[in-house]
Amino acid sequence: MLGHRPPKDANSSPTDEVIRTIDLTKIYSGEVKAVDNLNLSVKAGEIFGLLGPNGAGKTTTAGMLTTRVVPTSGTAMVGGIEVWKHPAKAKAMIGVVPQTNTLDRSLTVWENLYYHGRFFGMTSKTSRAEADRLLKQFRLSERQRAPIFALSGGMAQRLMVARAVMHRPSVLFLDEPTAGLDPQSRIALWEILGELHQGGQTILLTTHYMEEADQLCSRLAIIDHGRMLALGTPSELKASTGIDSAVMVSTDGDLDVLSAKLKANIQGATDARVIEGKVLLEVKGTHGVLPAVIQLADASGITVTDLSVSEPTLETVFIRLTGKDLRE
Ligand SMILES: Nc1ncnc2c1ncn2[C@@H]1O[C@H](COP(=O)(O)OP(=O)(O)O)[C@@H](O)[C@H]1O
Ligand SMILES: [Mg+2]
Repeated sequence: MLGHRPPKDANSSPTDEVIRTIDLTKIYSGEVKAVDNLNLSVKAGEIFGLLGPNGAGKTTTAGMLTTRVVPTSGTAMVGGIEVWKHPAKAKAMIGVVPQTNTLDRSLTVWENLYYHGRFFGMTSKTSRAEADRLLKQFRLSERQRAPIFALSGGMAQRLMVARAVMHRPSVLFLDEPTAGLDPQSRIALWEILGELHQGGQTILLTTHYMEEADQLCSRLAIIDHGRMLALGTPSELKASTGIDSAVMVSTDGDLDVLSAKLKANIQGATDARVIEGKVLLEVKGTHGVLPAVIQLADASGITVTDLSVSEPTLETVFIRLTGKDLRE
């Protein structure tokens, strides 16, 4: 959906690698291995996604790249700078949109941008002009004098993104940017992130929404238990399953019996497994698969209560890698 234009970013390192982690590891309180020897490389101009369920280690990874979480071992680099050796330099190169609303509630919408610019060393004149420009770009001009509490969740999130890019960071970090937003606000934010990407902005985002990763990301890493399970473009990852269709079958009958019967009898079936109360049947070729499933279930005295067929999605990829689904 989104083009892959060459980046305009003049701050990127000579290798064009904006983010690099080497064996990056975080163990909390000596016990929880939140991030486990992670090796990432993000190039200038990419929207790179960390896709994984709750607790996968996404926020911790972003935290170690943005000076918020101290690594236990390994290296986190941004723009060629080791984040934990030069935190002040690193901070100037990054923009961060955390999971919680960190806007200043004592200031107006416009003032939140203006003072951020001043804090990053902009002159009063430049900061004014930039605040005006960004509010326009992020469709917030009409709300410039509004207090923060008067903003909807979607508007507040857009303002957080505007503030995070105001000092022209080499890389923008977004932690679950659309979690809790209504579908319309989610799409509005996707549009804005797409525009930033078109302008050459390098972005790292975390998400547990596979649609978001699929729509937005140039490349993504699927992570679980702090480990990278797969890496590639959304198309590469989906193609890696080698299947044409994923059929989800719900029944109030015996799932294991149904799964075995489908795998053995459906033409083109390559695998079937029970996942969270449903049978996932993988098929090569799609012709006539739905009626065949229903007939087979009928003949076995099993009632099918719901049935869907789709091309493999990132969810399918995740299920195949972990045996569980991404949804909470
Ligand atoms: N401050 C902390 N202290 C102890 N454990 C933590 C802390 N923050 C996160 N964790 C644990 O580390 C793991 C990864 O968490 P997190 O990075 O927040 O994952 P995600 O953002 O993917 O949901 C989880 O098991 C979580 O409970
Ligand atoms: Mg998180």
